[in-house]
Amino acid sequence: MRRLTVPAIKGRKAGGQTRDPLVMLTAYTARQAQLLDTHCDMLLVGDSLGQVIYGLPSTLQVTLEMMIAHGAAVVRGSYHSLVVVDMPFGAYEASPQKAFDSASRIMAETGAAGVKLEGGAAMAETIAFLSQRGIPVMAHVGLTPQAVNALGGYGARGRSQEEHARIVSDGKAVQEAGAFAVVAEGVVEPIAVALTQSLEIPVIGIGASAECDGQVLVTEDMLGMFERVPRFVKRYEDLASVISKAAETYAAEVRSRTFPTRDQTYQPR
Ligand code: KIV
Ligand code: NA
Repeated sequence: MRRLTVPAIKGRKAGGQTRDPLVMLTAYTARQAQLLDTHCDMLLVGDSLGQVIYGLPSTLQVTLEMMIAHGAAVVRGSYHSLVVVDMPFGAYEASPQKAFDSASRIMAETGAAGVKLEGGAAMAETIAFLSQRGIPVMAHVGLTPQAVNALGGYGARGRSQEEHARIVSDGKAVQEAGAFAVVAEGVVEPIAVALTQSLEIPVIGIGASAECDGQVLVTEDMLGMFERVPRFVKRYEDLASVISKAAETYAAEVRSRTFPTRDQTYQPR
């Protein structure tokens, strides 16, 4: 199985609605990437790793070095999915040149196929600058977590007429600029549907609509690693209790000296 390419992903929407929705999950480590790879079309090395892996309060503290280290691990652990790496806060907003410097490091040092950045019309010039220079860009509109301080929280976007219009025009702007796909996060469903119908590039939903051209979730969220998750997350597993049960049994066996047994120890020949 050859790794999916940007044109192949874009092509899945050729001529209207994607008949075969795009499957995307986040991955931060090589082993996680190995386990998810053949089930997905795209793996996203999301800056959500700030909270998920590093215990940071938001994505604002994530650095380019973190993204590169985890991006390289995910590329090493996968051979099928197209890997997209998030551009962290502060690494791209100031200018197209700054964005190119960050994105080219990500591409060269990880081997990923593209980068993702947050923003619509305001980032159009930057998206055009990168895509015209060989760096595929996935945009991200609606709830953009790097703007949490400006947005005032992580609530759904697009409840007002004005916001509705802005999200659709953001989508159009990033498409015009050359983005190969766009994530629509935390938007009311009619906007997700309108965006999907009005754009020629794939719209990947999260907290959006089943009508989108694809879906993405944070893997640890859908695996049930956290007690508190946004309402748009469906938990497909309850790994938190699986892991804590395993640790509880291990601890009991260490304390009672029932682990290790003969099977796990080396005896002289
Ligand atoms: O960082 C991330 O995981 C993301 C997805 C939720 C889209 O940007
Ligand atoms: Na992100």
